[in-house]
Amino acid sequence: MNNSTLMFGEGGLPEDPYEALAIWLREAEETEINDPTAMAVASVDEDGLPDVRMVLLKGYDERGLVFYTNFQSRKGEEILGQRKAALCMHWKSRRRQFRARGSVEVVTEAEADAYFEGRPHGSRIGAWASDQSRPLESRSVLEERVADVEARFGEAVPRPPHWSGFRIMPTEIEFWQDGEFRLHDRFRFTRPPGGAGWDIQRLYP
Ligand SMILES: Cc1cc2nc3c(=O)[nH]c(=O)nc-3n(C[C@H](O)[C@H](O)[C@H](O)COP(=O)(O)O)c2cc1C
Repeated sequence: MNNSTLMFGEGGLPEDPYEALAIWLREAEETEINDPTAMAVASVDEDGLPDVRMVLLKGYDERGLVFYTNFQSRKGEEILGQRKAALCMHWKSRRRQFRARGSVEVVTEAEADAYFEGRPHGSRIGAWASDQSRPLESRSVLEERVADVEARFGEAVPRPPHWSGFRIMPTEIEFWQDGEFRLHDRFRFTRPPGGAGWDIQRLYP
């Protein structure tokens, strides 16, 4: 395949999509005004109705892409129910889009603990205080809950049992780079069924 691309310059498109993602994230970090790791994650409920919201990508490797959340939130329940998700990142400063979809696994307890322990104290308190996605009567109720959690745990705030990470394990990954006159560059990586490695296809814009 002719690997000449608008997106990866002279080196061409890496054969490993995670290597390609690392390049794009590095470049996005240099130019995005904030949150270069922000991604929209889509899930579906039991009726097949989609939902989408932003989260932060907190890690990735050849197994997939990880974010952390409250498992009792809307997204938590939908993803635990269907075990499938899609994600999309858009870097305006680079005119680039990255998307992926696949099945989802829960990260290990050890991974979730390690990430949680590295969070600021206030965020660890918040993970206990917030019934994410449930109705909240008033801001003061949330503030009281924060004070209660602080009084309960002090400095050593353990990870709540309902707070962990999801790993989206893509079977499809796409890189999109804006081109002149809408003649964009698109490459789709697909996992061959049961196989290792990736098939790469160039797509019409
Ligand atoms: C840039 C950005 C990053 C966010 N990162 C996270 C995150 O990593 N985890 C999370 O649970 N919510 C995150 N949120 C909040 C979610 O978008 C969402 O409001 C919340 O998780 C509840 O979603 P749900 O009701 O669909 O479960 C983020 C929001 C924004 C705008």
